[in-house]
Amino acid sequence: MQGRPRVFATRALPGDALAGLAGACQLEVWPEHCAPAPEALAARAVEAEGLLCLLSDRVDARLLAGCPRLRAVSSVSVGVDHVDLAAATARRIPVGHTPGVLTETTADLAFALMLAAARRVAEGDRWVRAGGWRGDWEPDRLLGRDVHGATLGIVGLGAIGRAVAQRARGFAMRVLAFSRAARSPGDLPEIESVPLAELLERSDFVSLHLPLDAATRGLLDASALARIKPGAVLVNTARGGILDEQALAAALREGRIAAAGLDVYEREPLDPASPLLSLPNVVLTPHIGSASVVTRARMAERAVRNLLAALAGERMPWCANPEVYG
Ligand code: GLV
Repeated sequence: MQGRPRVFATRALPGDALAGLAGACQLEVWPEHCAPAPEALAARAVEAEGLLCLLSDRVDARLLAGCPRLRAVSSVSVGVDHVDLAAATARRIPVGHTPGVLTETTADLAFALMLAAARRVAEGDRWVRAGGWRGDWEPDRLLGRDVHGATLGIVGLGAIGRAVAQRARGFAMRVLAFSRAARSPGDLPEIESVPLAELLERSDFVSLHLPLDAATRGLLDASALARIKPGAVLVNTARGGILDEQALAAALREGRIAAAGLDVYEREPLDPASPLLSLPNVVLTPHIGSASVVTRARMAERAVRNLLAALAGERMPWCANPEVYG
């Protein structure tokens, strides 16, 4: 094994991608089910030339500084807000990610949350299981909101936002979009591009699809949430840091926002003291946007390809800081 690059993987991965990595490297895999604490990560990565990480691993400047031999970081995620890209770039360390393969799967979950929150699916499930259903068909039981024919506001018109817009066609929805990059709707001419404030005021459903960065952190703060059309439904499958969770909880409690479907949180796992947990009108999933059997295996495969390419001195196929090759 001597001579093969040392790689630390912060978790075992679904599929057989890690077997391929083990054949080419001296691979150490974190054996536990939860992320290594920062000290454990630093201790295991200290000799590594390659780091295979997840979005729950904080790869900050301090960790990078403690790994003098590190030549490649590869994350099994499309988002890289957990990696200090500037610090990696300053060291000319390429950071790999996995765009493309999780687009449709994440869009599926956004739609699932939208439908579940609008039609009170989780509330109905809890009520049936709790033995609440004793009468027969009740005309006013669990009345929700129609998704079909409603106006959907997509915040962030990247690949996932566009995939959600495609799905909205099948539900005869009017689609508004706000995009920082002033992207043209292109092959989706029915999308109306509008400023964020207008989108919030006109949409019956608002779905977030922006990466988390300095410009989007807290974008949906209390004042933005106050602009949301009364009775609308909010869905977040992007990153929790984009919205103010306390302000959202207050709006949900007051019924100003009718319901929410959330897959991502300011702090993950969700704080047990979070006010969201006691609200009936919010559907909570544990950051499973990309969690299908096929997609997670594809993500693992891409992450391993990124790492192997970089360790072989080649360009990473999916690099989040391509300026390292400039
Ligand atoms: C999921 O949130 C990802 O960034 O892949």
